[in-house]
Amino acid sequence: MKKTKHLVGVFDSGVGGLSVLREIRALLPAQPVIYFADQANVPYGIRQLEEVRTFARGISRYLLASGAELIVVACNTASVAALHMLREEFAPIPFVGMEPAVKPAVEQSLTGKVGVLATEATFHTSMYASVVERFAQGVTLYEDPCPGLVARVEAGDLSGADTRHILEQALLPMMDKGVDTIVMGCTHYPFVIPLIKEIVGEEVRVIDPAPAIARQVKRVLEAHNLLAAGKRSAPARFITSGDPAHFQQMLRILLSEEHQVSHVNWQDGKVVE
Ligand code: DGL
Repeated sequence: MKKTKHLVGVFDSGVGGLSVLREIRALLPAQPVIYFADQANVPYGIRQLEEVRTFARGISRYLLASGAELIVVACNTASVAALHMLREEFAPIPFVGMEPAVKPAVEQSLTGKVGVLATEATFHTSMYASVVERFAQGVTLYEDPCPGLVARVEAGDLSGADTRHILEQALLPMMDKGVDTIVMGCTHYPFVIPLIKEIVGEEVRVIDPAPAIARQVKRVLEAHNLLAAGKRSAPARFITSGDPAHFQQMLRILLSEEHQVSHVNWQDGKVVE
């Protein structure tokens, strides 16, 4: 296959990373991208970190073999579990990862009470503890893993009764405590921001780190001379380890876009076509 120049690989357990991909493509339309959704293994957020590392390693190998020159770990869970390891194992390939956006939330909160929505696995990592330790001195964080929310987003249910129930369970107690800023610490959650705003009201700030991640991708591409030139829209490829027809439908629902989707399998820790 002909190699695509300056290809950026993006991956997540499923559709969540599309919330990051849409910002990357809005900022860098000329950059060709390949997106990998590991829907055979979603959700990552309830798994052991070691298992998530194995997935992240296998997917990164596959994306590099497909010609990616930079990889975006568009998944908080995989980032907190595997980013250090990926940078070491695949050096000098540049990786950009997610970090729960506690810092900007703390800077913007007036009440000093901040809500964080992220997966169970993310909350249990030393990386998350270190973010809290560095940036959340003097504020109170209210954390909730929103059990079942990733599955609702994977099903394309962005506003149904079950999704609303999960979010109300998480958000209403936070509102009672006086939270004025809420961090999207999982890349699936920005797709339900309209529903979150309905529940908490427009005056509560909701922090989606995706635009900042897109700007970081641009900086890292520039630093490595990988930024694609021109204004023409570059192609995007989509791969899933799950059901391609379902993923295609999710691209319609979440991005209003029509794309071909290829299917891959896992075999002994490796992604194979
Ligand atoms: N979207 C991912 C994250 O940012 C993973 C969600 C999951 O698979 O549990 O954490």
